[in-house]
Amino acid sequence: MKSVVILISGRGSNLRAILDAHLPARIAAVISNKPDAAGLEFARKHGIATEVVDHRLHAAREDFDRALMQAIDAHAPDLVVLAGFMRVLTEGFVQHYAGRMINIHPSLLPAFPGLHTHRQAIEAGVKIHGCTVHFVTPTVDHGPIIVQAAVPVHQDDTPQTLAARVLEQEHRIFPAAIRWFLDGRLHVTPAGAVNVAGLPALNEALRSPSE
Ligand code: GRF
Repeated sequence: MKSVVILISGRGSNLRAILDAHLPARIAAVISNKPDAAGLEFARKHGIATEVVDHRLHAAREDFDRALMQAIDAHAPDLVVLAGFMRVLTEGFVQHYAGRMINIHPSLLPAFPGLHTHRQAIEAGVKIHGCTVHFVTPTVDHGPIIVQAAVPVHQDDTPQTLAARVLEQEHRIFPAAIRWFLDGRLHVTPAGAVNVAGLPALNEALRSPSE
């Protein structure tokens, strides 16, 4: 069985969705850069090993990344999942996990990389917003796109109401993307696109009842 390490920084609702999906993998550890991340408690309750690598205890970004890499590699994971992990990672770190680290970002990339994506979307006046699961590459919030989900932007949306609508979709597509990885379905083309083996049938399974 493949093993997965999940990195978080906070609430951990994506972590929860991943655990609730009962994926065919061993969740080797949940690691947080923040000692008070609520997701840690949830992981512990599920009997999953948790660790904290506190970024504030490391003066340089490189030192933090080295410590984090050691903590992750102790579990020799097949996949590293960034589930609301809010630290920018150094290029060396990202290269070390090339092709086996994925992230969820709350926008339809390449639109709105970075922070405050829901506010950015409202201010830009877009009518469709959403979320993206992608392989992590050294440029933040770039990298081959595995799956996206879109939601409408309503005229009276606030960043909070829009975030809630997007989050529901995050919880659908992130576990699905991880499952596809575990099943060996993801192939990155030389041009940097992701081909998903058997996609039509998978899309059918992903569709929400209202669609
Ligand atoms: C999610 O919106 C994720 O896309 C973003 O940070 C948020 C984390 O939420 N990167 P949670 O900790 O999974 O609840």
